[in-house]
Formats: sequence, C-alpha cells, structure tokens
Amino acid sequence: MTVTIKTPQQIEKMRVAGRMAAEVLELIGDHVRPGVTTAELDRICHRHITEVQNAIPACLNYKGFPKSICTSINQVVCHGIPSEKKVLKDGDIINIDVTVIYQGYHGDTSKMYLVGKVPSHAQRLVNITQECLYKGIDLVRPGTRLGDIGHAIQQHAQKNYYTVVKEYCGHGIGTVFHEEPQVLHYGKPDTGMELREGMTFTIEPMVNAGKPQTRLKADGWTVETRDGRLSAQWEHTLAVTANGVEVLTARNEENFDTKG
Ligand code: MF3
Ligand code: CO
Ligand code: CO
Repeated sequence: MTVTIKTPQQIEKMRVAGRMAAEVLELIGDHVRPGVTTAELDRICHRHITEVQNAIPACLNYKGFPKSICTSINQVVCHGIPSEKKVLKDGDIINIDVTVIYQGYHGDTSKMYLVGKVPSHAQRLVNITQECLYKGIDLVRPGTRLGDIGHAIQQHAQKNYYTVVKEYCGHGIGTVFHEEPQVLHYGKPDTGMELREGMTFTIEPMVNAGKPQTRLKADGWTVETRDGRLSAQWEHTLAVTANGVEVLTARNEENFDTKG
C-alpha cells in the first residue's frame, strides 16, 4: 500500500531509461510497413536495447512473457506477442509497447503506428486515443487527484462515442515495473489519491471503437476486444514536478510544455 517518492537522483535515472524507451519507438517507425513480421520488429528492438543502449528489455521473461516488446494489432487491446506468423498488412493499426531497464530503473512507453494506407475511422480512433493520453498528462501536477485524470480520459473517449477498457490501467513505476498506484483511465473528479512531487507513474489509455469488454486469448497474454472491433493505446512514463509534469518518455516528434 505504498507509493514511492523518487529523489532527484532517482528521477535522473528514470529520465535516462525513459529516453531510451522513447528512442526505440523512434527508430522502429521506419520498419513498420506492410510485409514485416512482428517477430522482426521484436528482433530490431531487442538488438538496439541490448547492444546499443546496454540496457534490458523489461518485458522479456516478465512473468513468462516470451518477447522483448508487445505488438498489438487492430482488435488486440494490449500484450500482443511478436510472432513470425504475424505479417503486417496495408490498413493495419499497431501498438508497439517498449519498456527498458537502465541502472535498475524502468521507462515504459507505447505508440500507435499506421501501416500503409489506413481507413479514416481507424486513424480517428488512434488520434482520439492520443488526445485522451494528452488530456490526462495535462492534469498532472501536485494536488491533482487520480480520479480527475481518469475522468478526463473517459469523458474525451465517450464524447467521441468510444469506450475505455477498464481491466487494465496505468501504474506507478521505478525500480519496480508495476507498482502503486493504479492509474485508472476512468473515474470521478475529486476522488482517489492526490499527486505529490516525486511520484512517477504511467498513463496508458486503451480505447475501443465498440464495446469496452475484453477477452484473454488462449496464449495467456493477448488481450482482444470481445466484439472484434478496433482498439488503440498510447503510453507515457511521467514524473510529478513541483509545478507540473515531466514526460520522461517524450519523443522528438512531440512537444510538451515544461510546467516543471
Ligand atoms: N508495457 C506494459 C505496460 O504498459 C506491460 C507489458 S508486460 C508484458 O505496463 F509482459 F506483457 F510484456
Ligand atoms: Co505501462
Ligand atoms: Co507499456
């Protein structure tokens, strides 16, 4: 039942780990195209993390997960397993989720990629889901409560006739991959834990085009939408600063105000 508050020295290590995870998402983009297998994407990320960054891919062997990244295509909500049999095709949307451990600290981030020419309804789901993440991040500062964040995310999804997945959530992160608090992507304003400077956690909304319910596949990992419709997810690792937020996994293509 304890949330860890990180020192500036610990946050510096998380900054390095976060930058490494972001860099993996930046470099894999050029490889995400029709015809590539998700196993090939996994190999490229694994090699970069272990041989260039001298870091550890946190997902590999985590609770028995067999690969270094998660690759979740179309109706897959999260935790898709890279495979030689999964070949990307024109029109797919795919989430790639990368977690790197450097000097014991985790950086966890994911983004959506469009494969070839994607239908506009799928592009719209991807964009609105990213806006949901950004609306959550915008609220992060000391004094905000977790319910405020969940509420903002849920409202934006529902305003666009989408639904939020409730079975999976964001999480505290540091030397432990998944620690307290749980960061729900739905909720009520003025409820839940109050944020404090030095907290580090993820926000990672999963938004469905259809119904919110999910189903776990027989492989024990892959989570799909029950109705088979599309799902999207974006994730960042964040630190609460004195006045706002630092996005530890920001990519160069993004532009965040530094409220810290
Ligand atoms: N990176 C995921 C998260 O955002 C966790 C993946 S766990 C794995 O929390 F075992 F599936 F890799
Ligand atoms: Co996470
Ligand atoms: Co993740």
